[in-house]
Amino acid sequence: MAEDLHISSGTKEEQYQSLTKQIEALISGETDSIANMANVAAALKEQFNFWWVGFYLVKQEQLVLGPFQGPVACTRIAYGRGVCGTAWKNQETVIVPDVEAFPGHIACSSLSKSEIVVPLFQNGLCIGVLDVDSEHADFFDAVDQQYLEKICHLLEG
Ligand code: SME
Repeated sequence: MAEDLHISSGTKEEQYQSLTKQIEALISGETDSIANMANVAAALKEQFNFWWVGFYLVKQEQLVLGPFQGPVACTRIAYGRGVCGTAWKNQETVIVPDVEAFPGHIACSSLSKSEIVVPLFQNGLCIGVLDVDSEHADFFDAVDQQYLEKICHLLEG
């Protein structure tokens, strides 16, 4: 398949619909999960120009930085720490409209204002998280949650 992403316009939902179909095509047939996560991060960045988008992967009881797009970020996050560690611990998506109001938020960038973190599962186990940051406050809603969870399900194979 062609590796060019078609950047769509329209409502956020329409953009996610187009992107999700393209991600499905992009990762189908590729079994390497790191390669697929790298393309998912790039596709999300290209379509939405998020401030930071990437994965943290569970390794030896910590979250360790994986494929991402955006500024350099902290490399390790403990279980239950920050937004990412909380999503891992609770095994559910966390939406943070104002990062400064989230107790224990880990500020990788002072420009990040809001954040959504979606857990990634393999055989029922949380193996990592997808973290998306915005430089705008209150940027993420149920539409982001719905489609980012769908995209994570595609990665779960
Ligand atoms: N803010 C995250 C840390 C990761 S960076 O945003 C890329 C957190 O509180 O878990």
